Amino acid sequence: MMPRLRLAGTLVPAMAFLSYLRPEIWEPCVEVVPNITYQCMEKNLYKIPDNIPFSTKNLDLSFNLLEHLGSHSFLHVSELHFLDLSRCKIHTIEDDAYQGLKNLSTLILTGNPIQSLSPQAFSGLSNLQKLVAVETHLTSLGDFPIGHLKTLKELNVAHNLIHSFSIPDYFSNLSSLEHLDLSNNKIQSIYHKDLRVLHQMPLGTLSLDLSLNPIDFIQPGAFEAIRLHELILKSNFKSTNIMKICIQGLSGLEVHRLVLGEFKNERNMKNFDKSALEGLCNLAIEEFRLAYIDDLEGNITDLFDCLENVSVMALVHMYIDNQEIFPKDFSWKSLEFINCEFSENIFFLKLSSLRRLIFTANKGVRTFPELNTPSLEFLDISNNGLSLQSCCSVNSLRLTQLKHLNLSFNGVITMTSNFVGLEQLEHLYFQHSNLRNINEFSIFLSLNNLLYLDISYTHIRVAFRGIFDGLYSLRVLKMAGNAFQDNRLLNIFTEMTSLTTLDLSSCQLEQVYQGAFESLPRLESLNMSHNNLLVLDTLTYKCLYSLQVLDLSFNHIGNITEPGQQHFPSNLTLLHLTKNAFVCDCEHQIFMQWIKDQRRLLVEVEQMVCITPPNMPVLSFTNATCQISKTIISVSVFSVLVVSFAVVLVYKFYFPLMLLVGRRKYGRGESVYDAFVIYSSQDEDWVRNELVKNLEEGVPPFRLCLHYRDFIPGVAIAANIIQEGFHKSRKVIVVVSQHFIQSRWCIFEYEIAQTWQFLSSHAGIIFIVLQKVEKSLLRQRVELYRLLSRNTYLEWEDTVLGRHIFWRRLRKALLDGKTLSPEGMARAENNQQEAMTLI
Ligand SMILES: *[C@@H]1O[C@H](CO)[C@@H](O)[C@H](O)[C@H]1NC(C)=O
Ligand SMILES: *[C@@H]1O[C@H](CO)[C@@H](O)[C@H](O)[C@H]1NC(C)=O
Ligand SMILES: *[C@@H]1O[C@H](CO)[C@@H](O)[C@H](O)[C@H]1NC(C)=O
Ligand SMILES: *[C@@H]1O[C@H](CO)[C@@H](O)[C@H](O)[C@H]1NC(C)=O
Ligand SMILES: *[C@@H]1O[C@H](CO)[C@@H](O)[C@H](O)[C@H]1NC(C)=O
Ligand SMILES: *[C@@H]1O[C@H](CO)[C@@H](O)[C@H](O)[C@H]1NC(C)=O
Ligand SMILES: *[C@@H]1O[C@H](CO)[C@@H](O)[C@H](O)[C@H]1NC(C)=O
Ligand SMILES: *[C@@H]1O[C@H](CO)[C@@H](O)[C@H](O)[C@H]1NC(C)=O
Ligand SMILES: *[C@@H]1O[C@H](CO)[C@@H](O)[C@H](O)[C@H]1NC(C)=O
Ligand SMILES: *[C@@H]1O[C@H](CO)[C@@H](O)[C@H](O)[C@H]1NC(C)=O
Repeated sequence: MMPRLRLAGTLVPAMAFLSYLRPEIWEPCVEVVPNITYQCMEKNLYKIPDNIPFSTKNLDLSFNLLEHLGSHSFLHVSELHFLDLSRCKIHTIEDDAYQGLKNLSTLILTGNPIQSLSPQAFSGLSNLQKLVAVETHLTSLGDFPIGHLKTLKELNVAHNLIHSFSIPDYFSNLSSLEHLDLSNNKIQSIYHKDLRVLHQMPLGTLSLDLSLNPIDFIQPGAFEAIRLHELILKSNFKSTNIMKICIQGLSGLEVHRLVLGEFKNERNMKNFDKSALEGLCNLAIEEFRLAYIDDLEGNITDLFDCLENVSVMALVHMYIDNQEIFPKDFSWKSLEFINCEFSENIFFLKLSSLRRLIFTANKGVRTFPELNTPSLEFLDISNNGLSLQSCCSVNSLRLTQLKHLNLSFNGVITMTSNFVGLEQLEHLYFQHSNLRNINEFSIFLSLNNLLYLDISYTHIRVAFRGIFDGLYSLRVLKMAGNAFQDNRLLNIFTEMTSLTTLDLSSCQLEQVYQGAFESLPRLESLNMSHNNLLVLDTLTYKCLYSLQVLDLSFNHIGNITEPGQQHFPSNLTLLHLTKNAFVCDCEHQIFMQWIKDQRRLLVEVEQMVCITPPNMPVLSFTNATCQISKTIISVSVFSVLVVSFAVVLVYKFYFPLMLLVGRRKYGRGESVYDAFVIYSSQDEDWVRNELVKNLEEGVPPFRLCLHYRDFIPGVAIAANIIQEGFHKSRKVIVVVSQHFIQSRWCIFEYEIAQTWQFLSSHAGIIFIVLQKVEKSLLRQRVELYRLLSRNTYLEWEDTVLGRHIFWRRLRKALLDGKTLSPEGMARAENNQQEAMTLI
């Protein structure tokens, strides 16, 4: 222990030093409500922290090491309303310690070992209403310097060392005092002179708790002519006899509520004797409560003889032999049995003036009480584990005046009648009992005056549409925690035109029929939370003209139907939508946008988070992302299209393009070849033996470009065709044959040739038809067919004359556009002439 204390002894000054060094960093308190509520519990504070905002209203400084409160300790938090200084080891409170706390209404000093309390300790607390000085080593009220606290309403000095009940003179100043708790002190005797001051105080407003004081003497007449609101005397007396004497000492007291008995853990009185209460005949009591008296056995008529004129009788936590309870017809208006244990399982009660009976949380009674209480209006028979075979009609209850019936938290209640004769009922509670036969008939048919019905968690599954027929006046219907056939809500509320509040939470609802609420024009609050709804369909709520609060939280709502027409009733002010299945993606952006538009209505809209992406606030979803991604998508789709189109184009026009490029390059220069020969490899023999021989070896010689010979090895054929073939040749000779037409490659070459011809103005194609081609075959190559039928072409004829004419014409065609050397020119001339003569 010692080292620990020493450690604390060094730590505290060290921390103090640190706090002076860096006051702005030292933030020990929890900010509960910014600028309003701070919690500095158990922070080893040795002084009031000075970094608490000036505007703070509630400050909890409990469990610290304040020890000494100097004057003006709280000047920098002078707006305080609530100050908790519990267990701060405070031993000294100086004058004016709380000066400046003009608005402080609650001061808690519990658990401080106060040794020195200066006379002006509480000065300045001009608004203090509640002072709690429990366990403060207080020895007498007389020393307590609170005489000027005129606004004080509640003074709690329980658990102290006060020996005397002497009420000091200054109490006459405390004209607002309503509660004085002196319980658990050391008061033994109460004398007449102690209470003198009470006569000077407003009568009938003070509640006095003297429980757990070891009282053994009350001077007779001490309370004479005193009026109290409440007097609590629990676990005060060591024996029945002392109790009897003391109660006799209370004679002359007028008290609204008198509480006698013991505490569960503070039992002193064995063999409670009925005579103990004899003295009560000399008191005027409105309400009497008796708690934890075990031995009330046999005929207890005598016990209550002196209490025949109270209006409220309450028996709490008692063991009761109920065979002969109250054989006398007391005129009590209200009777309560709470947490009692009964010896017999049948409870019979006959009290003709009783208006109100509370029989709750009791043990031992197994059947519904037999009540001969014709005036009863209020019956609470809840939480007793009872089962009812037949409920409910005037025949079973015999209570024609009944307005309020609480049957909640019981067992199985079988409905066999529709409350015939109980038309006066206004409030009916069945919650957490087990209702049977609910779908057999309209069980509430007679209850035309019922205002409030609670059938929450009654294990019912509604299948019958007429279930609520007859409830014309009903204002509030609570039916949470039940179920509906097919998990679908139909219009079962047709006759409830007065309904203002409807609770359908936790009912496993998946669907709501659109007309379900159409007969509820007055409904103001509708709770559909904790169901399984998937879509928000505002049309369902359209006809609820008076709706103000709609709770759809804790469903699986992820979408909205037809957001264009989504208008809630104009009076709606609160819409709960938290904890739903918001999917915050672009597919749901209409719903997301709708949520933003309804932000004004939505409760805790900041707490609404998406399920995907997880925990993202719904409000942080933006259209922009969608637009960006839309643009991205459309841009990329577009680019893909463009690229593919370009690829197709390039593919299609690659060779023409190359031709075009090449033409620029070579076009102006001299052609290397006179002709580029396009032919099918099947016709190569003819080309080699006839064409090449005749043209290259003739006069003038022509240079032909032939791929088997002139193409540069290692270069792609297509490139060769273009670079070597077309670009370097003046003309193209197309050797048309059956094979040529059937060869795709030849046709391809021919098509390039056409483009080439188109591109270069002087170029020409010479067609040689090697053999007759079937017309049908030729027609497949439309272009070729057309060309051949329009243009002249050279037809190969393997006769002497045919060959002669063929070569002459071919040479002539090839000579066209050829620039010859003068010598060559002459030779060509000759040759031509020779040829001419030959013809
Ligand atoms: C708290 O008070 C300070 C100073 O008066 C002010 O600047 C700040 O805005 C307030 N904070 C809140 C949350 O009210
Ligand atoms: C006390 O509270 C009242 C209103 O409640 C306010 O007008 C007044 O300024 C407060 N006084 C102090 C000292 O905080
Ligand atoms: C009671 O109040 C008066 C003035 O209102 C004051 O003079 C007197 O001292 C107070 N009594 C006590 C015991 O404080
Ligand atoms: C109960 O006691 C009263 C008075 O002591 C007496 O009149 C009454 O008959 C008793 N009842 C029973 C059932 O013993
Ligand atoms: C109850 O009131 C009646 C009529 O006022 C009176 O005669 C009777 O003595 C009262 N009983 C007690 C116990 O005070
Ligand atoms: C009905 O009884 C239950 C259980 O005792 C209780 O919680 C509830 O407050 C009672 N209702 C009314 C309106 O008295
Ligand atoms: C709706 O019911 C749920 C569950 O019973 C409850 O937590 C919630 O507070 C209710 N909503 C409103 C607006 O009363
Ligand atoms: C809507 O609220 C206003 C103001 O509270 C009220 O006067 C009006 O009657 C309400 N409308 C409906 C249809 O209940
Ligand atoms: C949301 O609901 C609308 C309207 O009913 C519909 O057009 C849309 O496809 C739905 N969206 C999704 C993602 O289901
Ligand atoms: C977001 O999108 C919705 C529907 O697509 C549209 O009505 C709304 O005006 C857009 N909001 C913004 C801020 O672009």
